[in-house]
Amino acid sequence: MRERHFDFVVVGSGIAGLFYALEVVSLKPDAKVAIVTKKSAAESSTNRAQGGIAAVLSKTDSFELHIKDTLDCGGGLCDEKVVRQVVEHGPRVIDELIGYGVKFSRHDDSLDLTREGGHSVQRVVHAGDLTGKEIDRALLNACSLSGCIEMFKNSIVLDLITASDDGKTVCSGISVLRDNASDNSEEIELFLSPVTLLSTGGLCQVYQHNTNPSIATGDGIAMAYRAGASIANLEFVQFHPTAMYAPGQATFLISEAVRGEGGRLMSLDGRYLMEEAHQLKDLAPRDVVARTIDKELKDTQAEHVLLDISHKDSEFIKGRFPHIYATCLKYGTDITKEPIPVVPSAHYACGGLKTDMDGQTEIRGLFASGEVAMTGMHGANRLASNSLLEAVVVSKNAALKTVSEFEKLKEYQINNSVTLELIDKKAKVSNINIEKTRAQLTKTMSELVGIVRSEKRLLSALEKIESLRQITEQEYASTAPSYELVELRNLVTVAELIIKSGLWRKESRGLHFMEDYPAESKKFALDSGLTRRISKRSALV
Ligand code: SIN
Repeated sequence: MRERHFDFVVVGSGIAGLFYALEVVSLKPDAKVAIVTKKSAAESSTNRAQGGIAAVLSKTDSFELHIKDTLDCGGGLCDEKVVRQVVEHGPRVIDELIGYGVKFSRHDDSLDLTREGGHSVQRVVHAGDLTGKEIDRALLNACSLSGCIEMFKNSIVLDLITASDDGKTVCSGISVLRDNASDNSEEIELFLSPVTLLSTGGLCQVYQHNTNPSIATGDGIAMAYRAGASIANLEFVQFHPTAMYAPGQATFLISEAVRGEGGRLMSLDGRYLMEEAHQLKDLAPRDVVARTIDKELKDTQAEHVLLDISHKDSEFIKGRFPHIYATCLKYGTDITKEPIPVVPSAHYACGGLKTDMDGQTEIRGLFASGEVAMTGMHGANRLASNSLLEAVVVSKNAALKTVSEFEKLKEYQINNSVTLELIDKKAKVSNINIEKTRAQLTKTMSELVGIVRSEKRLLSALEKIESLRQITEQEYASTAPSYELVELRNLVTVAELIIKSGLWRKESRGLHFMEDYPAESKKFALDSGLTRRISKRSALV
């Protein structure tokens, strides 16, 4: 089996991974850095981000106000120290991204600021309605110019390579299934490194309808959990209130910035839905808006509600939201003339792999940044456009930390090198229908673990998902891995963790709403946590 040796291995090619890699080489120009990414380099959640990056840049704004909005949204579970650090770095983050070549939208020479749900002022920096795509473009370009960042595409991680001794686990790299496009073959390779940074994005592919790219199958969380790291707050899955309702088509996000620019949510019979629901009306925090729509859909049996911005000037709409305008038009809705049919859709995991502000996990040599990580920034409900900001701050800290402690991390790796025993996989004959099993999983999650939950429905989901997990693990142990099987394995793992975290939290807080425990409880004013215990010395490949 081929072994590759690097100084730093990055898994994932969204903003968190790319920014980390660039910062590492700026601090240590001789570093050997690998970015391992599942599909094409631009297939990431960052790439799909329409809204933007929240940062305090106007005279009417202040750090205190941004911090307050974040804490108010987070349902009592944000870590205020973390929030303060991230928010106070906001203006610098925007400057640094501009330094890497990101072109944000401007208005009279200054950055154009928009507004989204939960923000009390205009503070979202954006690049039209394709902010993530622009960030990805610039950072990928900077990576390819760096000369020492090697990109491995079509490469899915099987597991972390870890050694565990006396309760201390060390990560020495990753095992990777690589798809060789030239001869259509697949091969397992080992990427060995004293530092592994997970920036694998989110997990919303556990739901039938979600705004995420296809890569968002919870890989980083699942592999870190298998290696014994702590996972926190996975019950807080954010449903974006407005994805376009277009049956049979891929889910398409309608940015909250549409409401930020005056769009209003309406019932099919023309009632303004948010009028009475919250003082911020259409710009209320996402959990409130998504639940209001969910209730309307259940009460009226309607298939969707409406989002109307057609009262605004049509040239303004086309100029400000060119991508949304063109895509809706393709699906048959001219947003300058008529309201958009919308439904809530799974969008963002507020929980994840527990890290500190340097991205450090409990496993030595293992770091994480971006949606995969849980730093304490988002609490029970993420404030819109805070996630790209958090990713950049944590990736920058992680680069500083891993470069300055590189020699020590190298020593841990050498002292804990493991003899890798790869399971002798049988012939590649699949015993299960992976597609069907995955469809059962997403149906169960959508029907039983959605916006409004109950203990009974969660228990029923757990029973179904546990059985799918057993079948999947048996399959993984007995057949050669495929991309589809690896993703299914990760999906069933994170689905089970979401349900178990949800069952633990017997209250309603932020994004986790339980009909049988509708009130917030002081007893649960803390993060949920799940850790798989690994008791004996072991090697996981
Ligand atoms: C949006 O544009 O509505 C998404 C922004 C976000 O999720 O932060």
